[in-house]
Amino acid sequence: MSNYHIKHLEEYWQVYRKSVRNPENFWEEIAEEHFLWRKKWNKVLSWDFSKPEVKWFEGAQLNITENCIDRHLATRADKTAILFEPNDPNEGAQHISYRELHERVSKFANVLKSQGVEKGDRVCIYLPMIPELAVSVLACARIGAIHSVVFAGFSATALATRINDCDCRMVICSDGSYRGKKTIDLKSIVDEALENCPGVTTNLVVNRTGGKVTMKEGRDTWIQPLLDAADATCKATIMDAEDPLFILYTSGSTGKPKGMVHTTGGYMVYAAYSFKNVFQYRENDVYWCTADIGWITGHSYIVYGPLANGATTVMFEGVPSYPDYGRFWEIVEKHKITQFYTAPTAIRALAKENLDYVEKYDLSSLKVLGTVGEPINEEAWHWYNDHVGKKNSPIVDTWWQTETGGIMISPIPYSTPTIPTFATLPLPGIQPALMDEHGQEIIGNQVEGRLTIKFPWPSMARTIYGNHERYRDTYFSAYKNMYFTGDGARRDAVGYYRITGRVDDVIIVSGHNLGTAPIEDAINEHPAVAESAIVGFPHDIKGNALYGYITLKETGEDRNQDNLRKEINQLITDRIGPIAKLDKIQFTNGLPKTRSGKIMRRILRKIAGKDTGNMGDTSTLLNPEVVQEIMDNALV
Ligand code: WT7
Repeated sequence: MSNYHIKHLEEYWQVYRKSVRNPENFWEEIAEEHFLWRKKWNKVLSWDFSKPEVKWFEGAQLNITENCIDRHLATRADKTAILFEPNDPNEGAQHISYRELHERVSKFANVLKSQGVEKGDRVCIYLPMIPELAVSVLACARIGAIHSVVFAGFSATALATRINDCDCRMVICSDGSYRGKKTIDLKSIVDEALENCPGVTTNLVVNRTGGKVTMKEGRDTWIQPLLDAADATCKATIMDAEDPLFILYTSGSTGKPKGMVHTTGGYMVYAAYSFKNVFQYRENDVYWCTADIGWITGHSYIVYGPLANGATTVMFEGVPSYPDYGRFWEIVEKHKITQFYTAPTAIRALAKENLDYVEKYDLSSLKVLGTVGEPINEEAWHWYNDHVGKKNSPIVDTWWQTETGGIMISPIPYSTPTIPTFATLPLPGIQPALMDEHGQEIIGNQVEGRLTIKFPWPSMARTIYGNHERYRDTYFSAYKNMYFTGDGARRDAVGYYRITGRVDDVIIVSGHNLGTAPIEDAINEHPAVAESAIVGFPHDIKGNALYGYITLKETGEDRNQDNLRKEINQLITDRIGPIAKLDKIQFTNGLPKTRSGKIMRRILRKIAGKDTGNMGDTSTLLNPEVVQEIMDNALV
């Protein structure tokens, strides 16, 4: 039992050491004690990173929805499983109990079956953050269909690429979606995508907005009448532990997205275990992760991790700025949220606004704050800590990736002392290593290198759908017998990890390695700065020089840009050294971001390097219009 819920730092180290000494025993104990298996495994782990091949709990059988729903019915049938908070606060929240979830998932699964979906089929889900999204994900898992959720902010082109890449024959979408003041016509995006998806035979449509849609005869069907007529029980299809559970696309260094394949048994064990520990989840908590289920964060820490623990998990349909910038905090007060998990980009956006928006609400229910997705800068960390957590809720800076399936490096709240911008320590079972440029592991502390993982963990992706070679080349060829993360990290004197960012963002200036994150941290300390991104550009003498794109806070006052440039460079000089000073500083109204909130530095690098002939794939940008603005005003 103690392996499953860590309560203090000494215990963390005990559990960690045990997990590394004998990983098979460690995970076997957890898997045995906390989950429902229809058949036990023959072997806990077999692996070979050179192929690469990884199998956890081979021979075991289970259905993940029995673990996430059915087994809670005896003790938690009336407990809220999903707490839905709609875009419009006046619409009122919905509390979906475990009993109701069971019924809704069963009905949905029966509809899928009646439409011809079978075990192993891929089903594309393109839905906004409404209960049907979680329900359809679980319905696929119920019958062994492989879900491929595509974030409902992606364009028709991006959607079509993802549908075709894994040969989906069915798409589940809604008529429209609400985001703040906007109503988005999702169905016509799907219609456009499906023009290029000849393999799709069925499109099930959820009614959300009641907007006008065109239904294509023979292909498009409203799902509600089918649900109403469906049987409320559906026997779970028994899966092998290594059967695929879902595909989720992530962007790579090339234009073609990678369909990461996650399997059933190991993923379930790790998502549940990491959820319980990283959020110190207790029975009556109300947990809220603000991510979209279209991302891995939503898969593991809105749906599977929380539900496998019988938790109450919040699904929020809206945006942090609607009806006003206090919405997050209003929801925290209203539902007495105990764990709140969000992204640094959201924190920075809210920190720009008036403090009244936060101070107006009672946030005393909060026990743990989380962040994920990119390195959090010191300023944002402190704002989160001071104004949201009131210095009373530990911040878990959780490092992980779509590929890792679950959180890899993170403090255990109330156990691991936190330091701003440090993801701190690996979770039990995770064996990180830092590598130098010659492919050697860097031993000891106070060192920096490329972050790799040297032993398998249960929730790692098993392949890229339809392209195992790319999987091997991308993740297992840089360092022999290691999974390469693509990130750089520093290990400090006590062994804490600080993620320094993608290694392709390290810029070598006059032979000095400079990470973009610490420079951006320094710049962001300037009171006028809202956000910044640094890239390198070719320089005759230094090899590379630094180009900074900076957005300013809206204060209404006019500022002298030359003075600002001087002040910013002085700050960098103070914090890092004159070597990190920026050669060029461009003030801009926005930074190009992916829909998951990451700054697309690739584009900024091209502009800084006067290489704008081919901008590559920009279809995943949230705000493509800023690219033109930045190009028009580029300092070249
Ligand atoms: C990349 C993975 C995993 C959920 C969302 C992102 C960066 C993620 C952190 C963090 C610093 C972080 C890394 C990683 N990243 N979390 N806490 N500190 N960097 O998933 O889209 O697959 O991106 O996000 O660079 O490699 P993803």
